[in-house]
Amino acid sequence: MINGAIVMKSLKRTSHKKGYAKFEVNKMIMERKWAMPNKRTFTIKPIKELIAKIKNEKEIVDWCDPFPFPYKEDAIIYLNRFQDSSVKGLLFDPPYSPRQLKECYDGLGLCLHDTKSSVWANWKDIIARKIKPGGICISFGWSTNGLGKKRGFEIVEILLVAHGGNHNDTICVVEKKINSSIKDFS
Ligand SMILES: C[S@@+](CC[C@H](N)C(=O)[O-])C[C@H]1O[C@@H](n2cnc3c(N)ncnc32)[C@H](O)[C@@H]1O
Repeated sequence: MINGAIVMKSLKRTSHKKGYAKFEVNKMIMERKWAMPNKRTFTIKPIKELIAKIKNEKEIVDWCDPFPFPYKEDAIIYLNRFQDSSVKGLLFDPPYSPRQLKECYDGLGLCLHDTKSSVWANWKDIIARKIKPGGICISFGWSTNGLGKKRGFEIVEILLVAHGGNHNDTICVVEKKINSSIKDFS
């Protein structure tokens, strides 16, 4: 235990030759805290603290934030202004469900053509491309999927923020880009 957090160990196979496999032990911090819910994700105390801690540890000057509140412009247009492999730290805080996505668009008077999972997958693909190797992405939502191994990311920390009652937890997944994509290994 570190500061009340569980340190999980996961085994990663780094190479395999005839008859044996080599494993590397990765440590991942997992923590659960309680806080009042708030539409402004980054104002929730434990989340604010997590963002500040990672920023300080990784010497991130400015976070790239494609989904700010209030809405400014389409995330894809914003992200496309960055060169590939140029972003050191990114906060991925999109609408968490097809329903939230539709409500956002309705509220903005915009027409939404697609609420399928491909919307999130497309955002993740472009975000993964823009982050530099060693760079950090913190994803917020209702799952621990993050950007994922297939996009070249490894989870370093998970923070579960419970809000009580019938509220879903806000799940914060901190990932580091270890590679351009899994294809580079094959
Ligand atoms: C979960 S909220 C982000 C809250 C924000 N991080 C904060 O702490 O105040 C999701 C935001 O994404 C915006 N949004 C929805 N679709 C978007 C899109 N295609 N491009 C950019 N922003 C979008 C919504 O307007 C909303 O402000």
